[in-house]
Amino acid sequence: MSKPAQPSDNERLKEQSDYLHGTIAQDLGEQLTGGFQGDNFQLIRFHGMYEQDDRDIRAERLEQKLEPNKNVMLRCRLPGGIISPEQWLGIDRFAGEHTLYGSIRLTNRQTFQYHGVLKKDIKTMHQWLHKLGLDSIATAGDVNRNVLCTSNPVESALHREAYEWAKKISEALLPQTTAYADIWLDGEKVASTETTGKHAVPERADSGDAVEPVLGKHYLPRKFKTTVVIPPHNDVDLHANDLNFVAIGANGRLAGFNVLVGGGLSMEHGNHKTFPNTAQEFGFVPLDKVLACAAAVVSVQRDWGNRSDRKNAKTRYTLINKGLDNFIAEVEQRMGARFEPVRPYHFTSRGDRIGWVKGEEGLWHLTLFIENGRLLDYPGRPLKTGVRKIAEIHRGDFRLTANQNLIVANVAPKDKAKIEKIARAHGLISDSVTKQREHSMACVSLPTCPLAMAEAERFLPQFIDQVDALMAEHGLADDHIVLRVTGCPNGCGRAMLAEIGLVGKAIGRYNLYTGGNREGTRIPRLFKENITEAEILAILAQWIGAWAQNREEGEGFGDFAVRSGIVKPVINPAVDFWDEQP
Ligand code: HEM
Ligand code: SF4
Repeated sequence: MSKPAQPSDNERLKEQSDYLHGTIAQDLGEQLTGGFQGDNFQLIRFHGMYEQDDRDIRAERLEQKLEPNKNVMLRCRLPGGIISPEQWLGIDRFAGEHTLYGSIRLTNRQTFQYHGVLKKDIKTMHQWLHKLGLDSIATAGDVNRNVLCTSNPVESALHREAYEWAKKISEALLPQTTAYADIWLDGEKVASTETTGKHAVPERADSGDAVEPVLGKHYLPRKFKTTVVIPPHNDVDLHANDLNFVAIGANGRLAGFNVLVGGGLSMEHGNHKTFPNTAQEFGFVPLDKVLACAAAVVSVQRDWGNRSDRKNAKTRYTLINKGLDNFIAEVEQRMGARFEPVRPYHFTSRGDRIGWVKGEEGLWHLTLFIENGRLLDYPGRPLKTGVRKIAEIHRGDFRLTANQNLIVANVAPKDKAKIEKIARAHGLISDSVTKQREHSMACVSLPTCPLAMAEAERFLPQFIDQVDALMAEHGLADDHIVLRVTGCPNGCGRAMLAEIGLVGKAIGRYNLYTGGNREGTRIPRLFKENITEAEILAILAQWIGAWAQNREEGEGFGDFAVRSGIVKPVINPAVDFWDEQP
């Protein structure tokens, strides 16, 4: 008989962490190194931080016998991505005064990241955020991460309801340990959980223990991601997420949600046991069952997920390992209700509508395209200053989108011209941005990400110049292809839901995928491995030419790639993702 598999080292680490305290507080006082020791290196992730260093200067420092320039990246918790102008001003000031890069990075998980915070400033940062009513609990690590919500600026009543659910779900699934407050806030209560904190945990969470009723002492086997989606806009890319609540409206009000479970995009080059997958439909739940359903799905994954092999631990693998029907039946048992049949829904788009739109309540909303989500003062384009100046006079709110853009929301008609003037003067509105650029995305990658294999954020802008030229050459200047670049197969840039996806293989080399669709419901297939930018552009020139000539009315490139046989479609990724092209 084979021996039961040993739990992975991360399981030991969580068990011994005293509910995520570790020895982080003591470690903070150790200023001889800019990094964190032993288990703390991993544990700080549960508090929303990653240890990093600037990889551009790593070799040079090594030559000088210096430690890499260690620092942390911080990710804020911002369910649904809404923030007030006052909060923005505080966030902006911290980035300017206390980070190595000075930027605010809007991410495709509707939050912002600071890059380059030195150890001496970390505690100040958490206290600063706390004063603004913000925190970074559980934005990384083996927990439910920042909950996304479609940024629908037009249907305000539906959005308001959906957004409230995103917040409630976030709070119901948050770690309940006091570690964050103990370490960073000297024990003060965490502001943002005060309203809906512990009491939001559903009674039927069936948990592990008294301190962590939903998550348990060992937290989750792996990271876990949740969205609230308002069809027909799939801007949050639900299939990249473990647990998704698809809003079903009736007469402009929310009636409940279709629940889809087990999406996710990470894989490893060449490792056929790993694959991206789309989320599976579980059924419909009315509003009074939403929190119980969320806790039940999380707790089944907590108890059934693979704790020995982290590469097989995400919910999508649990569904396969234990069987979809068994998983659904267990969730129903734990939430104390049956799923109703899925209600009709469909998606038409994933991009943000850049520019002004008028909402149903007569207020205006301006979506600003922020390339790569990187807000910084560039020569001739002081973007970060521009947003600050808008925040100084804006009376509505800001919304971060899951496409790394920023919405100046709820602008009164009389303020519209003033805000537009500031945005234009600072390069935040530019008439030369093409639809192609608006529909392109990259992950952070180099120089900060320790896992990066190739450039992504720094590669994309000039690459799009060349794709733009190809599109214009074929009369497609007003059209777009959902095109994404991700620096390694972990997939943060969501290339595994793109019509054309590039996945970093080595410096200057990428794997080229195609055949995803515009709505984001099909995983693309590998077309060619380990190729250079020039090789990619030569292939794209052919593809775009053929698409322009032979497409059907309104046909997106990914659908064309499948119909015309450029790639065989991925139908069931667990079975056919790694199939060779015929
Ligand atoms: C095993 C899988 C993964 C690992 C180990 C991983 C790790 C990381 C790391 C280290 C960073 C920090 C980069 C930096 O800011 O310097 C990062 C950023 C990020 N990751 Fe992941 N990641 C994984 C999968 C994913 C997936 C599948 C998604 C979403 C589909 C995602 C979403 C993000 C986002 C939104 C950022 C922030 C920056 C951005 O917008 O590009 N990650 N990830
Ligand atoms: S995809 Fe890879 S390179 Fe890009 S941010 Fe994620 S981990 Fe880093």
